[in-house]
Amino acid sequence: MGLFTEEIAIDLGTANTLIIHNDKVVVNSPSIVAIDRTTNKVIAIGQEANMMQGKTHENIRTVRPLKDGVIADFNASEQMINRLIKSIPALHRRFFSPSLRMVICIPSGITEVEMRAVKESAERVNGKEVYLIHEPMAAAIGIGIDIMQPKGNMVVDIGGGTTEIAVIALSGIVCDKSIKIAGDVFTSDIINYMRGKHNLYIGDRTAEKIKILVGSVVEDLENPPEDMSVQGRDLMSGKPKQVLINHAEVAKALDKSIIRIEDAIMEALSQTPPELSADIYNTGIYLAGGGALLRGLDKRLSQKTDLPIYVAEDPLQAVVRGTGIALKNTERFKTVLIK
Ligand SMILES: Nc1ncnc2c1ncn2[C@@H]1O[C@H](COP(=O)(O)OP(=O)(O)OP(=O)(O)O)[C@@H](O)[C@H]1O
Ligand SMILES: [Mg+2]
Repeated sequence: MGLFTEEIAIDLGTANTLIIHNDKVVVNSPSIVAIDRTTNKVIAIGQEANMMQGKTHENIRTVRPLKDGVIADFNASEQMINRLIKSIPALHRRFFSPSLRMVICIPSGITEVEMRAVKESAERVNGKEVYLIHEPMAAAIGIGIDIMQPKGNMVVDIGGGTTEIAVIALSGIVCDKSIKIAGDVFTSDIINYMRGKHNLYIGDRTAEKIKILVGSVVEDLENPPEDMSVQGRDLMSGKPKQVLINHAEVAKALDKSIIRIEDAIMEALSQTPPELSADIYNTGIYLAGGGALLRGLDKRLSQKTDLPIYVAEDPLQAVVRGTGIALKNTERFKTVLIK
């Protein structure tokens, strides 16, 4: 094997799929596939398919193979992984494809059957040695936590489909709580708010842009972003219309969902064994995933929990980095890797 084996780490996320090869992130792509309805063939993936979202006609449909943190469409997900791997130039310089050693990060909510399906997909794309790792564990490793210590750490990963709250100690997940309130729900919160408050009908991509450009979970921000002009369709007249949106409105739109996340964190804290609670009192809570980028989230969670809150250095890449570290040290991390 040796010479013709390459190593890759994959974070198969609801919103984004990332791949590390030779310590570099070589794929960072939305988890979306566009399919031709007449032939059932995949015509685009990733960014290209993303641009088609909401703009398709009857012969094209865009699907997100992962939904709510589980795999909703196996065929589409396998084709997506296949194409993404093939898009890595370094893996295709030779005249035949190398066999792959890979670690794939999976949402902790998936079942045994789904795990096997992911593994089989990986094997069909030339995976010769395939390991799986649970997302909160990968996030913790990526953040730089020493997961093997007899010391509790709490990680909250707010992704696209799920928010996962985990307490990790001695290479294991001690408490794990997963709720289906995350980026996708925030996006629909914004759509509903715009409809109710401004009579404006906007699409997913526009709502997503609002979330990123003026997203906030507190109304009083120290450095508020500039207001944003938003275009959509007026629900009364049917005409295209534009309104101006600020961060305080987004905070209102997201409030209910953020309360759900706060409650889940409080519940996880209340279920944590006391020795680990004592550790978390000293170490605080680490945030990862795209949702960690919402303005004011650290401040709001810190007020709620009375704990220090740390946002991972690059929250969108913490999981894939952790997966990459596990890939390079499969022996050291053998207890957290699922063969
Ligand atoms: N600056 C930002 N502010 C708020 N939300 C953001 C920002 N950037 C990205 N997001 C959101 O973060 C989510 C994607 O995060 P991430 O890539 O961690 O999810 P994922 O790993 O694909 O999903 P999951 O872990 O649930 O499978 C999307 O919903 C995206 O809209
Ligand atoms: Mg994720």
